[in-house]
Amino acid sequence: MSILHTPFSLKSVTIRNRVGVSPMCMFNAQDGLASDWHLAHYGARAIGGAGLIIVEATAVEARGRITANDLGIWSDAHVEPLARINRFIKAQGTVPGMQIAHAGRKGSISTAQNGGQLAANEPGGWEIIGPSAVAFGGALGQVPREMTIEDIRAVQDAFFAAAKRALAAGVEWLEIHAAHGYLAHSFYSPLGNRRADNYGGVFENRIRFLMETVAGVRAVWPETLPLTVRISATDWADERGGWTLEDSVALAKRLKAAGIDLVDTSTGGGAPDAKIPVAPGYQVPFAERIRREAGIATAAVGLITDAAQAEEILREGRADIVLIGRESLRDPNWPQRAARELGADVKAFAPGQYARAW
Ligand code: FNR
Repeated sequence: MSILHTPFSLKSVTIRNRVGVSPMCMFNAQDGLASDWHLAHYGARAIGGAGLIIVEATAVEARGRITANDLGIWSDAHVEPLARINRFIKAQGTVPGMQIAHAGRKGSISTAQNGGQLAANEPGGWEIIGPSAVAFGGALGQVPREMTIEDIRAVQDAFFAAAKRALAAGVEWLEIHAAHGYLAHSFYSPLGNRRADNYGGVFENRIRFLMETVAGVRAVWPETLPLTVRISATDWADERGGWTLEDSVALAKRLKAAGIDLVDTSTGGGAPDAKIPVAPGYQVPFAERIRREAGIATAAVGLITDAAQAEEILREGRADIVLIGRESLRDPNWPQRAARELGADVKAFAPGQYARAW
């Protein structure tokens, strides 16, 4: 019996299998508004049998976008185009999830291929903000403005408003993006944060931005629905004092106590020159350690491309669900293919319209 194709419940939500589509920016929105592209793209992956789709990083304010073409949820006008997608996804039996995000100092990126990071006064650019006035580095050379306490409150309020709008749009599984060097990660990682106030310095202070954001979102997000956080479990820069797996275990314990239901365990993005040992399933050990040591559900992600590989991760108790990123771009029907390969009932994950194909 394939574990991958058995249901998984978190709070009142049950996903029909343990396959989620990982959040992936499409860079295909105007003014943050979801388009027909998003309906077709996410719709195809719901038809393809995913139990969960986590819609891409959706900016809580316009300056929290990576590029000017990111999805957003900073106004009520953003709700209905997302709701349309979520209605369709749900009608296919897939749980509609969404990631709410703020890019921080990794924003204001050109939409042109290899266009780099734009200054505030260049067309398509804006003033970027971060915990400290330190550029990310590498190709991202713009220096962010150090956030004041008022800025911090304003961004947190934007997260709370985004969570309410996500609920209004029919989202049933909400993820706070705190990975990949974006705003929340740049607060908790020592590499991005030089602050001398309550939001910088020791671990307790560096995680404060995220913990306050989580508390406020938890307060407006229904108790019955899953609330998750994606973290970068390591900066892959231990030797330079970067964020470590041990830090992540400690953070995950705090997140659990704060009412977070699952840690989506990614890594990296915090340092431009980090040496990352990319290989199949290379981030799974992080999901495993956090699950075991913090006692919280985890999602494993990163070069999980093969049905047997995914099944083994779950069978060995290394994670509760797997998220498929690029492989689901190559094959939207990955969950159906995996069902066939693992001997599960493909028809349970394929729409009636396609029954004759299986
Ligand atoms: C991503 N990734 C990503 N991660 C995230 O947390 N929010 C996002 O919006 C995006 N956007 C995005 C766009 C594209 C085109 C890619 C390829 C990736 C990272 C993604 O969710 C996943 O963690 C990685 O791609 C690793 O998983 P795979 O692709 O090896 O299965």
